[in-house]
Amino acid sequence: MSAVGQVMSALSGPREATKRVLTGFARDWAGVPRGPLGRVSTRWVMPRLHAAVYRVMAPAVQLRADDELLEVACGSGVFLAQQAGQARRVAGLDLSDLQVELARERLASRIAAGTAEIVKGDAGQLPWPDDSFTVVTCMGSFEAFPDPEKVLAEMFRVLRCSGRAVLNIGERVPDGTTTHRILGEIWVWSEADVRRMVEQAGFIDLSIEYASSAGESRMLEAIDRVTGALGQDLRIVHATKPTQPGQ
Ligand SMILES: C[S@@+](CC[C@H](N)C(=O)[O-])C[C@H]1O[C@@H](n2cnc3c(N)ncnc32)[C@H](O)[C@@H]1O
Repeated sequence: MSAVGQVMSALSGPREATKRVLTGFARDWAGVPRGPLGRVSTRWVMPRLHAAVYRVMAPAVQLRADDELLEVACGSGVFLAQQAGQARRVAGLDLSDLQVELARERLASRIAAGTAEIVKGDAGQLPWPDDSFTVVTCMGSFEAFPDPEKVLAEMFRVLRCSGRAVLNIGERVPDGTTTHRILGEIWVWSEADVRRMVEQAGFIDLSIEYASSAGESRMLEAIDRVTGALGQDLRIVHATKPTQPGQ
């Protein structure tokens, strides 16, 4: 190896090691938080890291007083707690025991009043009957689902006719990016593939907006610098369940 090659290799060592650490972090953080890392992450790190996502999602969702909102992969329930006062009822589902416990703490008074519900479960198998909600949201999570088509089909099923899905599905990607996976298991989708996937689930009136989270989290920006994995423009997908089947 040339001297230049050796220097480059030495410099890439720490970068690769950092990537490996982040891959493990992503599994226990953006995957299903568990163990000591998950405990720290769910209580202290994630709510701060995702503050920008909640800020961007709130005006995108525009809840109405008669809405019944389901958040899929609700984490520790920060967004639900922020939005619960704007809707008739909120529900959240998450696969992590740690997150479910925290979300139940956060929404305890509303759960006691019967206007909130937090369920442990899999996004690919929602435990509610058809036509249960007027709005479904998902944020900071969709890219970690192993079977995203199944999750979209379930979201579609539990939404009422004319119900709306407001989904943060990754970030803006440079033109020409093809759908791939990073850090082991996280999806990076092209916009065309997102459109195809959402429309194939039966949704109509699909639109995509990008909302900047730049400057909102120094931690996210640092992770992005090392991995190149996170953009600053959150991709938000709006779609509707038709009023008539097959419409
Ligand atoms: C990065 S966290 C985001 C949580 C929350 N949406 C927020 O923004 O605070 C990702 C969440 O997805 C959940 N999750 C991952 N796979 C899941 C699945 N198959 N079903 C339900 N939840 C899942 C994890 O447990 C975790 O709480």
